[in-house]
Amino acid sequence: MRKKVIAGNWKMNMLPNEAIDYIQKFSDLVKDTENEVILCVPYTDLFYCLMNAQGTNIKIGAQNMHFAESGAYTGEVSGKMLKSIGVEYVIIGHSERRQYFNETDESVNKKIKAAFENELKPIVCVGESLEQREAGETEKIITTQTRLALEGLSEEQVKNTIIAYEPIWAIGTGKTATSEDANNSIKSIRNEIKRIYGEEVSENVIIQYGGSVKSSNAKELFTTSDIDGGLVGGASLKPDEFSKIVNYNK
Ligand code: 13P
Repeated sequence: MRKKVIAGNWKMNMLPNEAIDYIQKFSDLVKDTENEVILCVPYTDLFYCLMNAQGTNIKIGAQNMHFAESGAYTGEVSGKMLKSIGVEYVIIGHSERRQYFNETDESVNKKIKAAFENELKPIVCVGESLEQREAGETEKIITTQTRLALEGLSEEQVKNTIIAYEPIWAIGTGKTATSEDANNSIKSIRNEIKRIYGEEVSENVIIQYGGSVKSSNAKELFTTSDIDGGLVGGASLKPDEFSKIVNYNK
């Protein structure tokens, strides 16, 4: 049985004082869940969140990293730097980074490898645009993104990769994929992993759904056969609302 992993992606929101208030309130609301709870926060909040999440069941992640360990990359942050302060997870290849910051399948693959070299667990995002969906290309796009993202990883590393299926048209739009559609897309990602790495690996990989997840639709999404939790944007900014998503099975 795969466990449910529910991660918040704060994107470019929350100042340190807001982050500290959030964690104080949120930690109490989710302390009894058996689901894994992760907050992926801006770099400037990481240290405050790590300090304040100590002794709670909340894990802290970053939203991006560079693939090099160090060097002349002004403005970038490496996996080694994230690891050095105690970060455990890192989102890689979010569609907003692919769209606005020229991330490619190749850079995503390099970043995932660098994450593992630094003992960080990657949360790798894949998903189709509305245009691709309407052209009937969803399965082709998401299986290709998955294959290229994981290329060259060991079976053990693939098992420890979290994949987030986030259809781009559902992000921040209020439009959610139906649970059936999302589950089918996630099944096709799992099948692609099975084809390449075998059933034992594919049955162990956590694959989340992301895109307008809220407390009112979390249960329907997360109780399907293949959706192993969610990557939540807007609804993770409020501790009350996000705790209801985390506690969807209470
Ligand atoms: P929303 O939940 O705001 O649609 O964002 C989803 C997302 O991009 C999480 O990474």
